[in-house]
Amino acid sequence: MTLGEGLARAERQLAAAGVPSPRVDAELLAGKALGATRTALYGDPGRELSTDESEALERLVERRAAREPLAYILGEWGFRRLTLKVDRRVLVPRPETEVVVERCLELLRGLERPDVLDVGTGSGAIALAIADEHPGARVTAIDVAADALALARENARATGIDVTFAERDVRDGLEGAYDLVVSNPPYVTAEEIETLEPEVRDWEPRIATVGEEHTAAIAEAAAGVLVHGGHLVLEVADGRAGEVSSVLGRLGYEDIRSGEDLTGRERVVEGRWSSRR
Ligand SMILES: C[S@@+](CC[C@H](N)C(=O)[O-])C[C@H]1O[C@@H](n2cnc3c(N)ncnc32)[C@H](O)[C@@H]1O
Repeated sequence: MTLGEGLARAERQLAAAGVPSPRVDAELLAGKALGATRTALYGDPGRELSTDESEALERLVERRAAREPLAYILGEWGFRRLTLKVDRRVLVPRPETEVVVERCLELLRGLERPDVLDVGTGSGAIALAIADEHPGARVTAIDVAADALALARENARATGIDVTFAERDVRDGLEGAYDLVVSNPPYVTAEEIETLEPEVRDWEPRIATVGEEHTAAIAEAAAGVLVHGGHLVLEVADGRAGEVSSVLGRLGYEDIRSGEDLTGRERVVEGRWSSRR
């Protein structure tokens, strides 16, 4: 079988399984199976695949056809300037969360040594990206899931970025003093999760996706650790920016604003904490 034939077969299998981007996924999986970049494969469709190579590709395609997230199969995923290790212990970092980081960096601009807390760090994506792009920042990251934290620590070691990690349940409250608290909390309802794509519904950790009470709990706990003028930045579910803004208002946050993700949906809500009220 040639590479071109292998790719066409993989694409058909993935399309039949309902994978949204079967061609791109087939190419990325072929790259992983053959140890080559996707671009390198373009120039060589006539290349004969060895038995080992075609079997390796077949195994990866079967995993993806079972709707395992592409990121878990590849074992790594890009987030901002970083390539992070990801597997079933953590949520796959999303493009909308890159926008959350962007907003945090804007709020931190001008602060030389800001203290930052990332609540529910998962792979460490937000914490590591902020520490990477604002080198003066002293970043702490917490998560209730010990296995997620183990992976976040691996990512910190692999990228050489300094973040302090701690296992903690935000519902037990927060400690310290921070210029900025950021979180992409679980925000899918138990009913909604059953309607989502299999990749999310069947593969990503429920502890990372399902939880309606977390957003308000984080906003409340953050109020106890934010310095005067410090900011809370939250990723929110599509359609919930208004509701979360009201929660922040009731808790006493000021300058509450929401921002859009790359597709124009309001997915980021922020507020400023003033201790002089
Ligand atoms: C939506 S994921 C976000 C992961 C990562 N920050 C990102 O944006 O890709 C939510 C994270 O919150 C963590 N989490 C869930 N409940 C928590 C709790 N009560 N206290 C602290 N972390 C929690 C989960 O383990 C998961 O890693």
